[in-house]
Amino acid sequence: MPNNIPSLQSSAVISEAAQTLRDGGLVAFPTETVYGLGADAKNPEAVKKIFSTKGRPSNHPLIVHVAAPDRFDQAEVDWSAVLSPWVRDLSEQALVLIHAFWPGPLTLVFKKDKSVLSEVTGGQDTVAIRAPAHPIAQALLRKFKGGVVAPSANRFGKISPTNAADVRSEFEGALDLMILDGGVCEVGIESTILDLSSGGAPALLRPGAITPSEILAKTGIEVFRPGEQNTIDQKSLPRVSGSLRAHYAPNTPLRMYSSGQVLDALTEFPDIKSRVAVAVWDSESSLGLEDHPSIDVEEISISSNPRHFANRLYRTLRDLDEQGWDLILVPEPPPGEEWDGVRDRLQRACFGSGPSSSSQDNS
Ligand code: TXA
Ligand code: MG
Repeated sequence: MPNNIPSLQSSAVISEAAQTLRDGGLVAFPTETVYGLGADAKNPEAVKKIFSTKGRPSNHPLIVHVAAPDRFDQAEVDWSAVLSPWVRDLSEQALVLIHAFWPGPLTLVFKKDKSVLSEVTGGQDTVAIRAPAHPIAQALLRKFKGGVVAPSANRFGKISPTNAADVRSEFEGALDLMILDGGVCEVGIESTILDLSSGGAPALLRPGAITPSEILAKTGIEVFRPGEQNTIDQKSLPRVSGSLRAHYAPNTPLRMYSSGQVLDALTEFPDIKSRVAVAVWDSESSLGLEDHPSIDVEEISISSNPRHFANRLYRTLRDLDEQGWDLILVPEPPPGEEWDGVRDRLQRACFGSGPSSSSQDNS
């Protein structure tokens, strides 16, 4: 990713955004994953504004975003100095992960320093931190010189935004929000989250673009997935709002179909006889559904490359949601951990989808 600030935002605009954060305001900004809704992590009133603006329950902790030190040689970067205001014990293992993946789409959960606001951590004794790679996010964080809490810039339970216009439409009319425009997010789904707070092996809390195999290959560190390690405290869930069964959800009913079973999926919805959008892998030939006698079906081609699919996932869901379909069908992603991030998002999006969906009454 380029180090220069893209001409989309001048340094005067970045300075204004940093000042807005200092004044206790909110600023939406691009990251390489999705757009974030930022506030000063040390200002409790500003942090509270994030929860009220999103409609997010206050026990859902936020990620603190930090600036990467401005050096060319990553090995020389002193990350301990960056993390010392936030983290109680920084292990060797954490530093290995940080040197391998920061700045980038990896969030790490640590035991928190006592100065970290409980508004940020949802009252837990841990804090989640990441250094985003997007040059505008980094320019803002460097200018601000502090930690910025930033959940995805969408209303709670809804689809995360991957461009500035999506952020605007999420908060239309509700808020005079400063939005930094950094174009379309490259990754397209939220960061991978690893819990390092137990002091033992890292546990995967949310799958994302950085997979356990990539982590193992680059660092030799083995990551445990939920269920593999009985020391994960399941009682304290939800620690990750992405762990709610309903999340990232469109208003249109969304369902997955197994390979070759799209007609079965259609007959499962006898009430929905009108307009159905069916997503089909670009590697497969048309399903020939246009001739279906009782249903107005349109096929939409989607990428069978997991990275491209992730990059387009929220865009596609938003666009289809606006087109007034009665049902959206998407194929189940194939097995394999490179699909875990999108499979996870799709399952929750299906569960929460539909006009009467309220992600708050599902867990
Ligand atoms: O890619 C991302 O991570 C994006 C961009 C904007 O950085 N941010 C994001 O934030 O996805 P949000 O708030 O939508 O999701 C953050 C997740 C939540 O599910 C939250 O529960 C989890 O991080 N989290 C935050 N602090 C935590 C902690 N101390 N322990 C466990 N999970 C935590
Ligand atoms: Mg979110």
